[in-house]
Parts: sequence; structure tokens; C-alpha cells
Amino acid sequence: MSPQASSNLDGNHGNAIALLAWYDSHHRDLPWRTPPRAIAAGERPDPYRIWLSEIMLQQTTIEAVKPFFARFLAAWPTVEALAAADTDDVMKAWAGLGYYSRARNLKACAAVIVDDHGGRFPDTEEGLRALPGIGAYTSAAIAAIAFAKPAAVVDGNVERVVSRLYAIDTPLPAAKAEIKARVAAMLPTERPGDFAQAMMDLGATICSPRRPKCMLCPVNDNCDALRTGDPERFPVKAAKTEKPARRGAAFIAVRSDGAVLLRKRVATGLLGGMAEPPNSAWTSRQDGALGTEAAPFPAKWRASGTTSHVFTHFSLMLDVYRADSLDIEAPAGWWWSAPEDLPGEALPTVMKKAIEIAIPGATASHKHAKRMP
Ligand code: ADE
Repeated sequence: MSPQASSNLDGNHGNAIALLAWYDSHHRDLPWRTPPRAIAAGERPDPYRIWLSEIMLQQTTIEAVKPFFARFLAAWPTVEALAAADTDDVMKAWAGLGYYSRARNLKACAAVIVDDHGGRFPDTEEGLRALPGIGAYTSAAIAAIAFAKPAAVVDGNVERVVSRLYAIDTPLPAAKAEIKARVAAMLPTERPGDFAQAMMDLGATICSPRRPKCMLCPVNDNCDALRTGDPERFPVKAAKTEKPARRGAAFIAVRSDGAVLLRKRVATGLLGGMAEPPNSAWTSRQDGALGTEAAPFPAKWRASGTTSHVFTHFSLMLDVYRADSLDIEAPAGWWWSAPEDLPGEALPTVMKKAIEIAIPGATASHKHAKRMP
């Protein structure tokens, strides 16, 4: 629809129509997406693919998700296959995406769908919301995209688009309720899934955080932020508080054959159930590194360097120590991981970084090394 035609319609409806028309010709081709021409031809998106991609996309960027999505689908092409998967295998395939409770929830959710829902995803927001690991955003996204339900889908991209369209002065996160109400008011009666994805694509490609390409925007006629002359000012953000910093030490014990000593983290909490080299408690003391007194056993520990990692609620600096020729039995519950097994272990990114400091290249699988975020 031309801008002239859309401006004849009421603002919300006109915006939705213009966005859908823009999406028809400018949508991104994504591995989990059913494009508008296929939907028009009667194809329906596969809820399993939509669910899997939406959970992964909460973690990282589209480009980073693509290889993980492909590997998950190759290993577990259906929700039944995922429900029957070994949890450790799922954790390994997830390693690198971060926030590992999501991997556990993924498997738990697949099991509930198979055991309690006959292998079919519920088709309403409320039904989806009741499943493990599915929150307000994901339930709305799956309901809209997979089941064509008129759900208001609000992610970071949509927040930016809407806060600009209506020049919302309330800072985030306080503005979230207002933004959701605005999206609900814009919802078209037809194609709610395409509308949700059009908003996301617009935010990702045109209404970008910096230097938005307003000249190319299908709703620039109606954009209040553009009228202020400074669209980049939106969304207004509350002043940031600094993350607390913690320190710790990691110990890379190497056997004569190159195997590295690993153990498993407790199942719950941060990085729960993942593998790690032995390491100290992570303290909030800032007065110098934790030394070899925190080592799991006495050995010739030599300092290899320091790595840092930023978690959601704190940042961590880990001093890394290495000791060689440790031809000892692994303590109960720990294991020696051979060089060829190390890349496939369920090691979180922070622990891969620590091992890489001590043994460069040790965690890189030849196939996937460059793709890990
Ligand atoms: N980000 C999260 N989900 C998305 C989707 N379905 N399309 C585009 N970007 C997204």
C-alpha cells in the first residue's frame, strides 16, 4: 500500500497495513520462518521450529543462533525426538548459547508437550505460558507466529519501534506496559504473526538503535520521534547501575596425554549442570587475585593469565592456573577429558575461555570453532 493510501486510514490500522506491505517485500529469510508467500499459499509454520528459535533468540543474535538451530534440528527434528533426548546431549548442544537453565527447560518443555499434550503445542498464549521456560514474550510470539493468534509480541526491537512511533518519554523498563498497550492497539485482524515479525524486522533493519534509516521506513509519516528531529533519543533508558565485579581462580590440570580434569556444576543455579575445570568460589573482594591456595590439590600451578566474562548480574575476572603431568586418578565424580572430547563437553563460554588461556585451541572443534559466540 502506498503511504498516501495508508494515511487515509486511522493511525493504528494504517501503520499495521503499511508494515505488512513492507514485510511482504522486505522480510528477512530466516531458517525457522515461513515467508508471507508460503503462508498465502496455505502453509503453516511448524510450532516446534518457532518455539525452538524463539527460545534461542532470547540468548543471542540471529546470526549466532543459525548454526545452533541447524544442529538442534538435525539431532532432534521433532518435539518427540527432543523429549526422548539425553539431557546431557541437549546441554552439550546448547553450550555456547549461555543461560543454561533454558536448555534444561527446553527438554522439560518437550517432555510436557509429549506427555501431557499428545505432542502438540497448546495454541493459546495462556496454554503456552503454562509450559516450562515459556514466559510472556515467548508465549505471545508462538501464539502469533505459529497459531495466528492476535497476541501483542514485544521484544527489544519492538520496544524501540513503538517508543519512537509514539515518542514515549517514560524510560524503560517503566514504559513496558504502555508499549504493550500500543502494540495491542495496532494489532491487525489478519496476519498477526507476520505483523509481529514485521515489527521485529523493522527494528532490526531500519529502526536501528543508532542512525535509523527513517527515509526507508514504511511508517515514517506517522512517527512522532521523527517529528521531534531526534529519533535516536528513544527509547529513553533509565540511568544504568554498574554491575558488581567478582573474582576467582580456575585450575587447568593437564595429564601427560593432554587430558584436562573436569567436574560438573551442581544442577541448579548459574550454569547449573554444566562442565567446568575446578575453580574457586567467586568472591566480591577486589583486593587482588585469588591465588593457588584455592587450588583443588597441591601441584606445580603456574599462572597462565586472566580472563573475564560478563554475566547478567555481575562481571567475573578469573585468574587461570595450569599444572602439567598430573597422572592421578580423577576425584570421585570428576573426569579426565581427552583432547578429542574436550570440544564436545558441555562447557559454558566462561570456562572455555579459561581453558583457552591455559591451552590455546583446546576447546575449538574444527567444524564449529569460528561460529561460537
Ligand atoms: N527475534 C526473535 N524472534 C524473531 C523473529 N521471529 N523474527 C525476527 N527476529 C526475531
